[in-house]
Amino acid sequence: MSKSNGSQRIPRAKGIDMATVYSPKECGKKARHLILPDFNQRIVDEFIAILGMREEFEEHHVPIPNKIVMYGPPGTGKTLTAFYMANLLELPLVLARLDAIIHSHLGETGSNIRKIFDYADTFPCVLFLDEFDAIARTRDSNDEVKEMARAVNTLLQCLDDFGDKSIMMAATNLEKELDQAIWRRFDTKMTYSLPDFGRRQHYIEILLGDFRCEASALTEACDLLEGCSFADMEQIVLKAKRKAIIERQPLLRGYLKDAYDEYKPDVAKI
Ligand SMILES: Nc1ncnc2c1ncn2[C@@H]1O[C@H](COP(=O)(O)OP(=O)(O)O)[C@@H](O)[C@H]1O
Ligand SMILES: [Mg+2]
Repeated sequence: MSKSNGSQRIPRAKGIDMATVYSPKECGKKARHLILPDFNQRIVDEFIAILGMREEFEEHHVPIPNKIVMYGPPGTGKTLTAFYMANLLELPLVLARLDAIIHSHLGETGSNIRKIFDYADTFPCVLFLDEFDAIARTRDSNDEVKEMARAVNTLLQCLDDFGDKSIMMAATNLEKELDQAIWRRFDTKMTYSLPDFGRRQHYIEILLGDFRCEASALTEACDLLEGCSFADMEQIVLKAKRKAIIERQPLLRGYLKDAYDEYKPDVAKI
């Protein structure tokens, strides 16, 4: 396991390099500008409130939620939300990409999954499994079906055994492909979508900061970037800023348009 700086109280795991650990502070830095729709913000707030009331929930024999699945298009803030939660909960984040632990050797994938869960079980943390559909897919028709079915079984067991001192989060772009049995294991589901006009405006304002801009550049950008993810918007605005800096100009509308054309976001315009 690779371990990042500033996370001294986290035990090291030997012999595997499949997960990265981030301290709560590092997580806070990464998630500084997360923009969530109101319904997701409410889910996060309620989740945090419940975790702060453990005794009351135990008294009423109501289980504490601790498994979140996030789904929606790429670049809309799923990974960022995992960092945000870890920071709010003041827990380290253990991040593993499931697509990176698939192994062609018999049983290796399942054993990799178990290693990650065993490691995360040694200290309270947010265990975040990114690219979750890589393993938790409904059985598809390739040669690795049996190996995957075994891996899904292991994943189910690991989810059932997961202790309540930690939080488990998973992200996928392809919720329709998730195995139903896995899907049911999650007590909290968060859906992500492309930003609406208001959220585009908010995010572009953050991206522009105090950069000198042509008067109508912000509104122009909000319209132009319709259908883009947050990640696309970030790349396009940065490109436009670079053009402005090279030309020693304020951010002109034309730079945004050029940046958009060069970046070619994958946008289905209506
Ligand atoms: N909701 C959001 N609010 C602010 N920035 C975002 C948001 N979604 C994505 N971004 C930007 O795009 C980058 C990639 O986002 P990420 O969380 O990895 O998306 P996902 O996991 O949904 O594919 C982030 O590092 C951030 O710069
Ligand atoms: Mg992601």
